[in-house]
Amino acid sequence: MFSKDGTTKDIKTPRICDVVWHNGEFIKWSDARVHVMSHVLHYGSSVFEGIRCYSTKRGPAIFRLREHMQRFLNSAKIYRMDHPWTLDQLCDAAIDISRRSEMDQCYIRPILFRSLDEEHPAFGVNPFPNPLACYIGAWDWGKYLGDEAIERGVDVCVSTWNRLTPNSMPAMAKSGANYMNSQLIKMEALLNGFAEGIALDDRGYVSEGSGENIFLVTGDVVLTPPLSSSILPGITRDSVIQICHELGITIKERTIQRAALYVADEVFFSGTAAEITPIRSVDRITVGQGGRGPITEKIQKVFFEITKGERTAPGDWLTYINESAQTSPDRNGHAAGKLNATGTVEAPAELKMSV
Ligand SMILES: Cc1ncc(COP(=O)(O)O)c(C=O)c1O
Repeated sequence: MFSKDGTTKDIKTPRICDVVWHNGEFIKWSDARVHVMSHVLHYGSSVFEGIRCYSTKRGPAIFRLREHMQRFLNSAKIYRMDHPWTLDQLCDAAIDISRRSEMDQCYIRPILFRSLDEEHPAFGVNPFPNPLACYIGAWDWGKYLGDEAIERGVDVCVSTWNRLTPNSMPAMAKSGANYMNSQLIKMEALLNGFAEGIALDDRGYVSEGSGENIFLVTGDVVLTPPLSSSILPGITRDSVIQICHELGITIKERTIQRAALYVADEVFFSGTAAEITPIRSVDRITVGQGGRGPITEKIQKVFFEITKGERTAPGDWLTYINESAQTSPDRNGHAAGKLNATGTVEAPAELKMSV
């Protein structure tokens, strides 16, 4: 799957939605272009999201749409991006593009960035003179770390690159610029023959993968690094936490030493793209039995049953795009999880855990 020189594409992209949502309207895919002098290209000034729409018996369903769009708004707020879009409008736009894509499953990519006013261009670092542009595209994305990875697991390394320090680049914002750090981690891993890299935080504690959160299983306890380890507050991470609560599995947020990765019984990634992917080795040290462990399998099974609409989720996690009148669950008064001010997803009271 992954070539030694790192050039192998890690994902198949067979189908792309031929329209793109732009500032409230749909435009052709081929018209969704930016000027090369746009602020975002030079200074990394974008925030974005990655959301999956799953195939279910009731038609396509978007997974945790409101939570993703709330994180999108939080990222924009952190970067002082003063845009007019509301949570409901963005959710409706995502539903709309999923419908227009006519795909039974897709990956939805909202992005908000500083562009260029061609009549009054501004070229400096100061982002404020540059107009904001918001787009949402969609395509069909396969298994991020390969089809077989979900069952057999992946071989990963600890990166020589650290994750961002909290007061340099906020990891809790999903900004385009953060992904330069992710690219360093990913390229190093691929070039050394690994599927993915795990970054440590600036203190040397385990943080996350280049595009995934991480969980360890020791005995019957599941551990995951806290937000203070410079992680993105993952929506899948929150889903895993809530699934563990539902299954009666003890889950704790803890700072985790690198060496704990080597001696854990099981390790797995979580993320919208990677979903729940077992890790079978770290730095060529076999994790547990070297495949998907029983607790990972249990959590993964429940996660996939929920995303397929075959099992009731702990909250209103699925927005069925052909059933909703242009509206996502929370608008109907249901209790979808909410991202609180610190970027942690707020679970119902009985599921809440400290960060
Ligand atoms: C750096 C990073 N951490 C964690 C995640 C997982 O977040 P989520 O589960 O919300 O997709 C992602 C993926 O978006 C990511 O890019």
